[in-house]
Amino acid sequence: MTPIEVSSNNNLCGVLSGSGDKSISHRALIIAALSAGCSRLTGLLMSDDVRCTIEALRQLGIQISEPEGSSVFVHGAGIGGLIDPVGPLNLGNSGTAARLLMGVVAGNPIEAVFIGDESLSRRPMGRVVGPLTDMGASISLSKSGGLPATVKGKDSLLPIEYHLPIASAQVKSSILLAGLHCPGVTSVTEDRRTRDHTENLLAKFGADVQVEALNGGHHICISGQPELVPQDLVIAGDPSSAAFPIVAALLTKDSEVCVKGVGVNRTRMGLFDCLREMGADLQVISRGAVGGEPVADITARTSALKGINVSADRAPSMIDEYPILAVAAACADGATVMQGLGELRVKESNRFASIVEGLTKCGVKVEEEGDVMTIIGGESRASWRQMPKILTHGDHRIAMAFFVMGLTCPYPITIDDMSMVATSYPGFADDMALLGVRL
Ligand code: S3P
Repeated sequence: MTPIEVSSNNNLCGVLSGSGDKSISHRALIIAALSAGCSRLTGLLMSDDVRCTIEALRQLGIQISEPEGSSVFVHGAGIGGLIDPVGPLNLGNSGTAARLLMGVVAGNPIEAVFIGDESLSRRPMGRVVGPLTDMGASISLSKSGGLPATVKGKDSLLPIEYHLPIASAQVKSSILLAGLHCPGVTSVTEDRRTRDHTENLLAKFGADVQVEALNGGHHICISGQPELVPQDLVIAGDPSSAAFPIVAALLTKDSEVCVKGVGVNRTRMGLFDCLREMGADLQVISRGAVGGEPVADITARTSALKGINVSADRAPSMIDEYPILAVAAACADGATVMQGLGELRVKESNRFASIVEGLTKCGVKVEEEGDVMTIIGGESRASWRQMPKILTHGDHRIAMAFFVMGLTCPYPITIDDMSMVATSYPGFADDMALLGVRL
């Protein structure tokens, strides 16, 4: 545990180079591992989560070079080329690594045990086990439906047509990756668009992926058993990490912060849409595309925000950004209503509860009803309490969101543990120091 006390700061200024996107980093490693030959990945996020994917792929027989800076070489074994791991695959804190790799292992005639930390072991895995079992894999889960899990794969999975019951890019990706191993066409229908990095990368590595836009969603078809072509790929910056310095600049006095090379794929832009509606001074300058993903330099300046309504439709495009949106809402004038937050309960912590608990400790008025959270910003500032002690529940995004809250609070905030930040944004403390944050 690394506790920290954060106090009010002004005048955050500087330019940051965005850190590699976590979702794309996992996917690039996995898809490169399934290609026939050597790929070079540059700009990879070297975080704890991504290292778990590297280690798991190595255990499955994939040669991955020692990272040099943010570059690695991945020697792919082709579709169906994985080997039995000698020990369990430890996916640490990473739901993405666990769920996507289950889809991959399902398509190989091997057996692997998946384990994770306390948080990952609590997260529901039935959502991928259902469709992967329909395709022919045998998977057993713990009594509570989580890890440890044993996955027995097959070299002859059956293609399925799957309609996602929840908006989840992880479930979609797990099925598409399993579908790569099937003869014929596997399809996934999503009623609401979720991040589409798997589809983009599969196409880039030469797979036949057809995506049809539906009313608000997508119908995706993947043709199985292609020979994927290795790539020299650069990974775009992570908008979910950039969100923290950007909101810090908006909420602190006399600040101007630019984050360069941020991925601006539409399926990830919900927070930025919300911030603009709240009155944020954001400037987005397009810098073309990196690794098939649009990128931009985003500059944020101190802004007076107002509360807004955030509909449930927006949730998939900002599912990881609610902790930091909640902090922005606490500092905004008026109420912010956020709907459709059910999935927040099954993230690295129960994020719905962690946000309510943390803001309430700070003295912010928060109302909850079912999956709707209402944060009464602005006028409740008078009741913000002295010296709140925030529990992160081992959740990296709760830790960073309340760090930003501490920068704008009249009283210092103690955060119980910042070590988990290494899960997604290992350079967070350095970036904050570079912007001039004094603790
Ligand atoms: C992710 C998808 C989201 C997100 C997670 C990363 C991904 O999860 O919360 O941090 O890389 O596909 P769900 O698919 O469960 O919504």
